[in-house]
Amino acid sequence: MESSLGILLVLIISTTIHIGQSQDQKGFISLDCGLPANELSPYTEAHTGLLFSSDENFIQSGENGQIQASSESDFWTPYRTLRYFPNGTRNCYNLRVEKGRNHLIRAFFMYANYDGFDTNPNFDLYLGPNLWDTIDLQGQVNGLRAELLHIPMSNSLQICLVKTGTTIPFISTLEIRPMGSGSYITDSGSLKLLFRNYLRESKNFIRYPDDVYDRVWISSFRNEWTQISTTLQVNNSNIYSPPKAALTTAATPTNSDAPLTIKWNSSNVNNQYYLYTHFAEIQELWTNDTREFNMTWNGEYFFGPLVPPKYWVYTVFSKWGGSCIGGECSFELTRTNRSTLPPLVNALEVYTVIHFPQSETNETDVIAVQNIKAIYGISRISWQGDPCVPQEYMWDGLNCSTTDKSTPPRITNLDMSSSGLTGNITEIIQKLTLLETLDLSNNNLSGEVPEFLGNMKSLVSINISRNNLSGLIPQALQRKGLELYSQGNPRLCLSGSCLPPKPKPFPVAIVASATSVTIIIAVLVLTIVLRKKKPPTIGDQQQPPSISSVNITYANSPVSSIQTNKRSFTYSEVIYMTNNFQRSVGEGGFGIVYHGTLNGYEQVAVKLLSQSSTQGYKQFKAEVDLLMRVHHTNLVNLVGYCNEGDHLALIYEFVPNGNLRQHLSGKGGRSIINWGVRLQIAVDAASGLEYLHIGCIPPMVHRDVKATNILLDERFKARLADFGLSRSFPAGDESHVSTTIAGTPGYLDPEYYHTNRLTEKSDVYSFGIVLLEMITNQPVIDQSREKSHITEWVVFEVNSGDIRSIMDPKFQEDYESDSVWRIFDLAMSCVNPSSKRRPSMSQVVVELKECLASEKSRRNMNRGRMEPHSSAEVTVLVDTEMFPVAR
Ligand SMILES: *[C@@H]1O[C@H](CO)[C@@H](O)[C@H](O)[C@H]1NC(C)=O
Ligand SMILES: *[C@@H]1O[C@H](CO)[C@@H](O)[C@H](O)[C@H]1NC(C)=O
Ligand SMILES: *[C@@H]1O[C@H](CO)[C@@H](O)[C@H](O)[C@H]1NC(C)=O
Ligand SMILES: *[C@@H]1O[C@H](CO)[C@@H](O)[C@H](O)[C@H]1NC(C)=O
Ligand SMILES: *[C@@H]1O[C@H](CO)[C@@H](O)[C@H](O)[C@H]1NC(C)=O
Ligand SMILES: *[C@@H]1O[C@H](CO)[C@@H](O)[C@H](O)[C@H]1NC(C)=O
Ligand SMILES: *[C@@H]1O[C@H](CO)[C@@H](O)[C@H](O)[C@H]1NC(C)=O
Ligand SMILES: *[C@@H]1O[C@H](CO)[C@@H](O)[C@H](O)[C@H]1NC(C)=O
Ligand SMILES: *[C@@H]1O[C@H](CO)[C@@H](O)[C@H](O)[C@H]1NC(C)=O
Repeated sequence: MESSLGILLVLIISTTIHIGQSQDQKGFISLDCGLPANELSPYTEAHTGLLFSSDENFIQSGENGQIQASSESDFWTPYRTLRYFPNGTRNCYNLRVEKGRNHLIRAFFMYANYDGFDTNPNFDLYLGPNLWDTIDLQGQVNGLRAELLHIPMSNSLQICLVKTGTTIPFISTLEIRPMGSGSYITDSGSLKLLFRNYLRESKNFIRYPDDVYDRVWISSFRNEWTQISTTLQVNNSNIYSPPKAALTTAATPTNSDAPLTIKWNSSNVNNQYYLYTHFAEIQELWTNDTREFNMTWNGEYFFGPLVPPKYWVYTVFSKWGGSCIGGECSFELTRTNRSTLPPLVNALEVYTVIHFPQSETNETDVIAVQNIKAIYGISRISWQGDPCVPQEYMWDGLNCSTTDKSTPPRITNLDMSSSGLTGNITEIIQKLTLLETLDLSNNNLSGEVPEFLGNMKSLVSINISRNNLSGLIPQALQRKGLELYSQGNPRLCLSGSCLPPKPKPFPVAIVASATSVTIIIAVLVLTIVLRKKKPPTIGDQQQPPSISSVNITYANSPVSSIQTNKRSFTYSEVIYMTNNFQRSVGEGGFGIVYHGTLNGYEQVAVKLLSQSSTQGYKQFKAEVDLLMRVHHTNLVNLVGYCNEGDHLALIYEFVPNGNLRQHLSGKGGRSIINWGVRLQIAVDAASGLEYLHIGCIPPMVHRDVKATNILLDERFKARLADFGLSRSFPAGDESHVSTTIAGTPGYLDPEYYHTNRLTEKSDVYSFGIVLLEMITNQPVIDQSREKSHITEWVVFEVNSGDIRSIMDPKFQEDYESDSVWRIFDLAMSCVNPSSKRRPSMSQVVVELKECLASEKSRRNMNRGRMEPHSSAEVTVLVDTEMFPVAR
């Protein structure tokens, strides 16, 4: 039975009837290629009512062509213009489709000697990385159609024209139609249309709107047949929904004893065929009459006996592919002995199976590299279609791992040297998780070298030479096994030349770090909440040894230096790096924070977790591993930890310039910051929060957003601390029930408090409170106010006066009230009692950035964030008395 087609019936009285909802062209993509986007696009084609539009937004290359004006009227409107591709080997359309759904994909090529060269082009058509068809227009005066039924494996569909000889590829129309579910299912592979006919003596074709899926049905008839027809409606309800218009006629053999035969020659002996045959009885029969027939495929029994139902469609289709032995295919209907009438057929479709064996490149990699292309505006002609495959059309500057066809290739090398790149090094690079070499040399990239590059495990070589990068090369990039080429960046600080003290470049920074003893750093805490606050009971902590005694004490210690890229530290290394806990820089929720030095010069904040609660830290390692994977420029990153017996410590980056609360209040010798700087801080903090919500995997809720957790560096760049309280929650799950309510009074989302259901919108609420603090510089809760909570207070004040009454008097009128109003509105939407009505952090970031941009243009803040500080304010920063050392 190898050669016979499998079959399955579709009964007309089907319980799940999918009459296409595509009646309204939903999901249709109808491109009139080469139509200029500005002119007539989109337009409604008169005969079909299809809405055609220009293809300009779906392809980056090619030129517009047009059939000679003299013969234009001979052609259907969408065929009159075309797009041709004189440059590049492969040119691709990129279309959005629904992953996993069957789609009809149809391309049409109408040459009509548009270029006057009479060349009859010949080229290849690809679907993603796979050959779909060879288009040869020799002798095709009526044009050529390529049509597929295909289930895309991703949401993007790439259709490429590939130049194979000297002629220039072109295309006239491209149409995509989503199909109903459950129809045209194959064992394997996609279906390539051979023919689709309705049996009538006619010259017309049937398509949309008669066919809800816009299949095109061509009329076909033979001399040895007789046509029967009806004027009555034929019910076409089944999952195939063949158009009613195609069912109102049928063919029967004129010799009523002969079989009805449909034959064609197989172009390839290996072809596998799928048949879809549609039957309906459309004659009024006498009661003594019967129409019944069997079907055969190449002489073998296929299906039957079948009595076509009256005025209802009955579809018989193949369940498996069948082949044609000897190259001739024949499908035959033979009446049975009891039948008084000859067989009939109304419409049929024949497809061949086409396999697309080459996997597309990993979708994550594709999206990443497409985003990189978009961000930097790269317009290399080869950067179209699948980045890696087929190998001969791989994007210039890429190399990929290609093991076998069934494994999605991965991008391993990316060379964007000398490509005129400007702006920052984009974070999207880290989505290329198997990247081994990255070459960004010889561009005009600016900003800092991002730390994530050092954390990309697969990277072995980075070339950022000859750019305009600045700042310090992050520690993480100095790991073993990673070659870094960074010469030719005049403002980039190599580690060797950055050893402190070096007071030249940023006076403020140095003063700040010298006085960092006095700074309270809000530090990260673990998920498991420790109730007790207890100073550490480490042996000689009460009497810190002098520097010399440290040297003596640890001279024989096995720890002579601490390696850069290390993450896990022993307790003796912690003692060493903090110089035996010499300088306490503050007390956070669950332990005391000490200043420390890693590697001789990298400043860190070491948080010693109180020992009494160590038994609660069963999952210490897992939690820490999770937190160490979180890296963002606006977060205080965890750089290491100690987990030795009872000694637990967390080691963070040191952020030297206090927290937002201090700068608002002017306490601790902190400066008062102006509105523009506050906006910038808000943007930074919001970006960090947005990253926790949507950027990191798994996403996290911070749970303790507040002004004291927004730390500032020397240049007033904000870093969000204390996201250790956050517990990761599964992506896709909208909310999550937690066991303990965590957070700080005043900032705590009332909805979370009442329902105990934690979502990222709780952070949005807290962030709204921070925005209100920035505007008003008022305490969040003040029992001496008539309205003690800040949200009640601002509403009360604004309702009874103007916004100036709530503004921080320290602004001294130096602000644009529009800008403040906007932020006020944003803050109020963030603190909406209903979490559903609050914006997402991404929306907050967008709004803040817009405000910041207009504030910057107002101030012309070219000199950056330090503009408001005079040197007199800098000296005020030195103050050792404000924050007594915790004991
Ligand atoms: C593309 O080809 C045309 C004609 O051959 C030429 O004028 C044009 O400069 C080419 N464009 C690019 C980007 O190579
Ligand atoms: C076709 O048949 C279906 C299912 O029995 C029925 O719901 C529908 O109304 C019929 N349509 C027509 C036009 O008779
Ligand atoms: C198939 O090919 C043979 C030999 O070329 C030819 O005689 C026959 O008519 C063809 N059949 C059809 C259905 O085209
Ligand atoms: C069926 O009945 C009709 C009249 O009722 C008659 O004319 C016809 O010949 C009959 N057909 C057959 C096959 O007996
Ligand atoms: C039609 O098919 C049925 C079922 O397999 C079979 O019994 C019958 O003999 C066939 N009739 C003819 C004329 O082939
Ligand atoms: C049908 O009729 C033919 C001859 O007229 C006979 O050979 C065959 O056995 C019959 N088939 C059935 C299923 O009666
Ligand atoms: C693509 O790669 C990512 C890892 O970056 C992996 O999680 C994902 O499953 C891969 N997708 C496919 C389709 O293999
Ligand atoms: C890709 O591999 C080839 C051959 O190994 C090498 O010549 C080329 O430089 C590589 N390209 C990149 C971008 O690494
Ligand atoms: C580039 O990064 C710097 C900080 O490193 C930031 O201030 C700036 O806004 C970034 N620019 C862009 C275009 O993202």
